[in-house]
Amino acid sequence: MAERETVLEVDSLVRYFPIRTGLLQRHSGDVRALDGVSFTLGRGETLGIVGESGCGKSTLARTVVGLDKPTSGSVRYRGTDVHRASGSALRKLRRRVQIVLQDPYTSLNPRKTVRDLLTEPFEIHRDVLPGPKRLPRVKELMDLVGLNPDHLDRYPFQFSGGQRQRIGIARALALEPEVVVCDEPVSALDVSVQAQVVNLLRRLQRELGLSYLFIAHDLSVVRHISDRVAVMYLGKAVELGDRRDVYDRPGHPYTRALLEAVPIPEPDGRDTRRRTLLSGDPPSPVDPPSGCRFRTRCPKAQSLCAETEPLLRIGSAPASEVACHFPEGIPSSRGT
Ligand SMILES: Nc1ncnc2c1ncn2[C@@H]1O[C@H](COP(=O)(O)OP(=O)(O)OP(=O)(O)O)[C@@H](O)[C@H]1O
Ligand SMILES: [Mg+2]
Repeated sequence: MAERETVLEVDSLVRYFPIRTGLLQRHSGDVRALDGVSFTLGRGETLGIVGESGCGKSTLARTVVGLDKPTSGSVRYRGTDVHRASGSALRKLRRRVQIVLQDPYTSLNPRKTVRDLLTEPFEIHRDVLPGPKRLPRVKELMDLVGLNPDHLDRYPFQFSGGQRQRIGIARALALEPEVVVCDEPVSALDVSVQAQVVNLLRRLQRELGLSYLFIAHDLSVVRHISDRVAVMYLGKAVELGDRRDVYDRPGHPYTRALLEAVPIPEPDGRDTRRRTLLSGDPPSPVDPPSGCRFRTRCPKAQSLCAETEPLLRIGSAPASEVACHFPEGIPSSRGT
């Protein structure tokens, strides 16, 4: 495959949330929500990001689109630093990098109609489209995401969960973005509706040439939409590689454990899931384990793992990187 043009560069991104305690609100520690994450996103590409609750996915999403500031590190959209841009460069960036949130129930103002919700982006970026052209564009957007343009004056509560997420997607697309960060866009939806929304996102990607960061806590959700996958654990990427390699030849014991936790449907309805290696919750991001953060739950951990932090390096599959001292070398038996 030809080398893709890079649209987004995330470099050593760190976001700590200071903890303040006592009357004097002394700084007593930090929640290390993101602790040095780097990757690039190519034009038209989907990078899936997975990891358990609290590993920093939403913090990453918010920081990438500029809703949150990093403690250190940088995010660049086509060379422009998202957190240092100002003036017209910032305005352009705000248009071109958008976010779709998990919960269409809370992210849409319940007192506004679809017409209002979809017109809003043009009121914030007034120069994009003159007033008389906005209504036709709003109808076009509704049509694009599979909503009936006749329902323009309905309120969010009059739509189903899946339709509400379509409104959220239409809003994100209003200003013709190039990068869309999808933070668990289907996690709040019924399983039967999830595939429809994922398919919609895939179609929109093809038609509009979008690049996606697609976040989920479950590897099965990102499987069919991702070109590459990054697996996060406690604020770090522990594996990053081509989708096939990550699923078929997981290099990190954590990735393997996540994959083994995904049920394999059998014709007789049995759940043939192998006993997951993952027990309990991840440790606190306030005081992560020394060395490898996964070592406290890892079946392969040895003394080296407590002493030295493993860095991302080329794994068993040449196209993937793994942060593990003892990466898996044996191909997984799961197949595609
Ligand atoms: N504004 C904040 N102030 C303090 N701590 C925060 C803040 N936002 C997030 N955190 C903490 O940072 C860590 C990462 O949170 P984040 O929401 O990014 O995780 P997540 O992977 O999106 O989790 P989930 O799957 O539950 O959505 C958590 O420990 C969380 O409690
Ligand atoms: Mg989240």
